[in-house]
Amino acid sequence: MLPGSKILLFSLASTAITCFTRGLDLRKGTEDVLCPANCPLWQFYVFGDGVYASLSSVCGAAIHSGVITNTGGAVRVRTLPGQESYPAVNANGIQSQVLSRWASSFSVTAGTKSTALEAVGRSVSTARPSTGKRPKKTLDKKAGNKDCKADIAFLIDGSYNIGQRRFNLQKNFVGKVAVMLGIGTEGPHVGVVQASEHPKIEFYLKNYTAAKEVLFAIKELGFRGGNSNTGKALKYTAQKFFSLENGARKGIPKIIVVFLDGWPSDDLEEAGIVAREFGVNVFIVSVAKPTAEELGMVQDIGFVDKAVCRNNGFFSYQMPTWFGTTKYVKPLVQKLCSHEQMLCSKTCYNSVNIGFLIDGSSSVGESNFRLMLEFVSNVAKAFEISDIGSKVAAVQFTYSQRSEFSFTDYVTKEKVLSAIRNIRYMSGGTATGDAISFITTHVFGPVKDGPNKNFLIVLTDGQSYDDVRGPAAAAQKAGITVFSVGIAWAPLDDLKDMASEPRESHTFFTREFTGLEPMVPDIIRGICKDFLDSKQ
Ligand SMILES: *[C@@H]1O[C@H](CO)[C@@H](O)[C@H](O)[C@H]1NC(C)=O
Repeated sequence: MLPGSKILLFSLASTAITCFTRGLDLRKGTEDVLCPANCPLWQFYVFGDGVYASLSSVCGAAIHSGVITNTGGAVRVRTLPGQESYPAVNANGIQSQVLSRWASSFSVTAGTKSTALEAVGRSVSTARPSTGKRPKKTLDKKAGNKDCKADIAFLIDGSYNIGQRRFNLQKNFVGKVAVMLGIGTEGPHVGVVQASEHPKIEFYLKNYTAAKEVLFAIKELGFRGGNSNTGKALKYTAQKFFSLENGARKGIPKIIVVFLDGWPSDDLEEAGIVAREFGVNVFIVSVAKPTAEELGMVQDIGFVDKAVCRNNGFFSYQMPTWFGTTKYVKPLVQKLCSHEQMLCSKTCYNSVNIGFLIDGSSSVGESNFRLMLEFVSNVAKAFEISDIGSKVAAVQFTYSQRSEFSFTDYVTKEKVLSAIRNIRYMSGGTATGDAISFITTHVFGPVKDGPNKNFLIVLTDGQSYDDVRGPAAAAQKAGITVFSVGIAWAPLDDLKDMASEPRESHTFFTREFTGLEPMVPDIIRGICKDFLDSKQ
C-alpha cells in the first residue's frame, strides 16, 4: 500500500446529506456527497446556474444542473469564490433564483461510482443512494414510520371472560394495528403484555423492531385465562414495561393500549394514577361494552375515564364486537400516532418554551412583517400549549424592545395565536444583540427553572447595529437553544454567530419572506431533535 493511500480513501468517502443541505454547510474545497431520492423539488432554494451561490441546496443544484435526477446519487461539490450576480434559470424541474453578490459559490459534477458504493457499505442513516436494483422501500421499511414515534405496550385481555376464540380474534386485530403502525428502528416500537390472573410481559419493546417479527410473536401468543385483573396488569405494565434496559426510548411518548372485553374485574383508578405518574398515555379499547342490563354487574361504570390521563374522549375507543374489526384498525392507528395529543408524556410538543424575537425594523415593511407573524403562528401551532404544556412568548425589537406577550400571559393555543395576530408593527432600527439580552433576562428569566426546555428563535432581515455574539453566547449559557432565521439582507455571519451548536443546523436563511413558510417543518424538527438530544 502506498503511503498516503489511506488519506486518499478518506477524502473520497462521501457524506450522505439531506435535500436541504446547502453548499455553505459543507467543508471548503472539494467534497463528495450523496443526495437522497425524492426530494420535494418545489421546496428547493437554488440561486444561479452552473455556478451556484453557497446558500443553494446542493442536491437542488445537482438536479438543476442535470448531474443527477431526483432518484438521488453521488455528487462532487467544489467550492468557488463569490460572484457579483447569479442568474435565474428554469432547468430540470427547478426554477433557480436571482441573487446579487454572495460571499462564496459552488459547482457540482457527478460523483464517482466508487464513492457511492463506499457509502453504501457504511451505515449512513440520514440518506441513502438509490443504487440500481435495490428498491428504496426496503430501507424505509427498516426505519419504519418516522412520523409515528411511540413506544407502545398492547395490554391484551387473556381472561376466561374473553375466551380462547375471541382471544384469537383479538390477536388478529392487534397484529393488524401493529403492522399498520409502521414499526421500525426509527418509527414506533411495540411490546405485548397479557392481562390474566397475573400479568405477563410477553415481549418487550426491544425484542423486535420489524413488523414481521412482531406479527409472528403475536400469532404465537398463548391464551392464559383467569380473571382479567386489568387494573393490576395496567399498574404492572406502567411500572415494569418502559425501562430503558427493556428498550424504552427517552423523549418518545409511552403508550399502553388496554384491550378490555366487556368490563374489568378489578379497579382501574389506582392503576390510572400510577400510569400518569410514569408519564404513560393510557388508551382503553373496550369491546362489547356492557349493555344496559349488564351495567349492574360493573363495579365502577366510569372505569374508562378513571384509567385515562385526560378525560377528553381521545383516549377511549370502542368496538361493538371482535368480529369485522378491520375498519377499526386505521382510526386507532391514527390516534396512537397523534403526538400532539399525548399529553401524559413529556415530548418536544408539550415540554418546551419557545420565545420569538421578531425584527420590527423599517426595512421589513408591513406586509413582510405579516409574513413573519404567519411564520411565528405556524411554528407555535405545532406545539401543545397549555398551563402544564408548552408555552410561547414574543418580543418585537427595533432599537428598543417590546414584550408582546410573555410565557405566562396566554396558556391556550387560540389565545397565543390571536396574540400573535394582534402584534402591531413598530418600524425603526435593528439592535438584535440588545434584543437577545432583553428576552434572555426578562422573558426567559422568570421560567428558567421550570420543567420546560427553552428555545429562542431570532427572526431578522438585516444587519444588527450592535454586537450579537456576546448576548447570544449569554443566552446559550443560560440554557436557551438559539435558532437564527435570516431573511433578505441578514448577514450569514451574524446568523451563525447567534445560532447554537451545531451552527449549521440552527441557522436558516431565505432570500424572500415567502421562503419562511417552507422552513416551518425544519424548525419544528430542529426543536424536537434538540429536545431529544437534551434527554440523552
Ligand atoms: C426479549 O428480550 C429479553 C432481554 O434481552 C429476553 O430476556 C427475552 O427472552 C426476550 N423475549 C423474547 C420473546 O424474545
